[in-house]
Amino acid sequence: AGTVIAVDGPAAAGKTTTCLALANTFGLRYLESGRTYRIIAFEALRREIPVDDTREITGLCDELLMESRTESLLTAERYASDKLRETPVNVAVSAVAKIAEVRQRVTGLIRLWAKTQAQCVVEGRDIGTAVFPAARVKFYLTASPEVRAMRRVRQERADSYENVLADVIRRDEADMNRAASPLVAAEDAIRIDTTRLTIDQVTSRMASACRN
Ligand code: CDP
Repeated sequence: AGTVIAVDGPAAAGKTTTCLALANTFGLRYLESGRTYRIIAFEALRREIPVDDTREITGLCDELLMESRTESLLTAERYASDKLRETPVNVAVSAVAKIAEVRQRVTGLIRLWAKTQAQCVVEGRDIGTAVFPAARVKFYLTASPEVRAMRRVRQERADSYENVLADVIRRDEADMNRAASPLVAAEDAIRIDTTRLTIDQVTSRMASACRN
């Protein structure tokens, strides 16, 4: 693989915004791995496949991988982002992301993609720990659940603060407690608590760490 900058952390910790800024600053390709887990969950719901059925979901995953020869599941733009962020998908994605067979396949896709990139920023939950343990720079972004929920509400305006907070807490629990690649900071990750920082402050800390 080329040079990888790995960015992990819980929901709405500011990963996407800061990663896009980093990618712009350094002219890197950017990959949001959560989108692929969301696409799989979205398709499972659409096809009425039970999301806790490991065999069925793994089969769906393989089918989607076969179907997506022309447009990789990693970058597929035919899925509208707002559809992928609706409540049912938020709920289903935790079940789908728990399945080791699914994680294995998504991990394989990401590694293949990264091989074709000179340098890239990859965002997710397990990038610095499982997908690219040898990444050149690793970040782990966090913030209090309340601040993260507030940011999500401001950004999406779709749901109440209470509902968003409950969803953030539920997904944190699911991500941190699953057996396959749980969400945890890599030992060599640079941890940034963004609770009291602006996006610009976080981005400039990350940028200076990348320059060193
Ligand atoms: O944007 P947000 O932080 O809300 O979530 P996301 O990055 O779109 O990820 C959606 C879900 O996919 C997360 O809740 C994780 O359960 C799962 N995910 C994962 O398991 N591993 C990754 N590398 C990325 C996402």
